[in-house]
Amino acid sequence: MEIDKLIRIASDVREKAYAPYSKFQVGAALRTPSGQIYAGANIENISLGLTICAERVCVGSAVAAGEKDFEMIAIVADSEIPVVPCGACRQVLAEFSPSLKIVSTTLSGVAAEFRLDELLPKPKQGIL
Ligand code: THU
Repeated sequence: MEIDKLIRIASDVREKAYAPYSKFQVGAALRTPSGQIYAGANIENISLGLTICAERVCVGSAVAAGEKDFEMIAIVADSEIPVVPCGACRQVLAEFSPSLKIVSTTLSGVAAEFRLDELLPKPKQGIL
């Protein structure tokens, strides 16, 4: 099934995470309407504040490949309950796809589904 493939890609890229400080590895995979998939894993920094979450890493690789429209993101982490994207990632994802589907699963297979517009209503700030 397509969602399972997206989750598997997120799970595989999770192992590439650079997370020496938290030791919490996260993988994400973003799919476009045409079926292209872009993967990313979290990249930590010794400053901690400069850490980039897996979700934003895959947005970066997708945009660098010319993509700006996304249908679904899968997120995989080794947590007890599925992770939910942080506020910064919600805003970055909403820049491109405000009603993105989000599926988040743990390594043991606990899954949750969200839509970005329920996690971040009114993402446009009206200032530009
Ligand atoms: N992290 C992500 O990459 N995505 C999430 O949705 C939750 C948190 C990362 C950031 C940091 O490297 C580590 O997980 C601990 O917060």
